[in-house]
Amino acid sequence: RSVGIIGAPFSKGQVRARVTREPDVDSVCLGCAVKDYGNLTFENVALDEPVNGSKSVRTVGSANQRLSEAVKAVKRDGHTAVILGGDHSLAIGSIHGHTAAVGPVSVVWVDAHADINTPLTSNTGNIHGQPMSYLLYELQSKLPPLPNFSWMKPCVSSRDLVYIGLRDVDPAECYIMKLLAVKVFSMTQVDQLGMARVMEETCDYLWDRTKKPIHLSYDIDAIDPSITPATGTPAVGGLTYREGVYITEYLYQTGLLSAVDMVEVNPLRGRTEDDVRSTVSTAVDLLLGCFGRRREGNHLPDYSLP
Ligand code: ARG
Ligand code: MN
Ligand code: MN
Ligand code: MN
Repeated sequence: RSVGIIGAPFSKGQVRARVTREPDVDSVCLGCAVKDYGNLTFENVALDEPVNGSKSVRTVGSANQRLSEAVKAVKRDGHTAVILGGDHSLAIGSIHGHTAAVGPVSVVWVDAHADINTPLTSNTGNIHGQPMSYLLYELQSKLPPLPNFSWMKPCVSSRDLVYIGLRDVDPAECYIMKLLAVKVFSMTQVDQLGMARVMEETCDYLWDRTKKPIHLSYDIDAIDPSITPATGTPAVGGLTYREGVYITEYLYQTGLLSAVDMVEVNPLRGRTEDDVRSTVSTAVDLLLGCFGRRREGNHLPDYSLP
């Protein structure tokens, strides 16, 4: 097992200040080799006027094209890909590049938000609220042509998507998820079932047909803002630290985790240093969970008592 890390310090999918890669997130892997692919650089396209109300479409489009190529290369090199955001619009390139290298994937989207607005339904025009609509086959006919997005084709079936942690969903998003019968474990279902059952049902659902590589797209705002406040669109009533980590531990032990996005960690959105520290260290712990860290410690079996 080896991990390839890509930094994607990309923030034009939203309007607030920078969402950046935190350097501390670098050594995320226990007992496995880490290859650092460095930070991607992105140009801001000049004269990037809104398209159907969506902001920075050209900039987001070309950045995601670059990210898609980078993720594809990491997968071709045989690593589990880790993409450190950056805002959630980067899931477009990340998931696209992942499927380009390995074929169909299952997507586990952990988030307060569904990020499934189309450019035409978005109230904010922020592309970080739209990536799933670009990726789903079933929404292809609902997308207007977008400049700098002609490189990408939808690559995920709505049947292969599970949401966990939703609690701030726009009316059009709710309609789209119902229309496509997307599997959702909202915070209400998390409360009803408990996270252990949510993860069992998530995998039962995804494995109904065949077991595919898993793409985990983890928005840090899925976790309650009391723990991870340094993020652009916090929503009260989120996952506990323990629920958040449990998701990663569970997916690790499936052996199918093939790529992980960690997004919307934004140090500039913390009011205090403690806000930032707590947000970043939680993101690190979530990544460590993805790569086999156990909370009881990773101990060797052959300890002999003195
Ligand atoms: N639903 C809102 C929108 O469309 C908020 C999206 C927040 N997304 C995120 N990746 N934090 O703009
Ligand atoms: Mn979110
Ligand atoms: Mn909203
Ligand atoms: Mn998101």
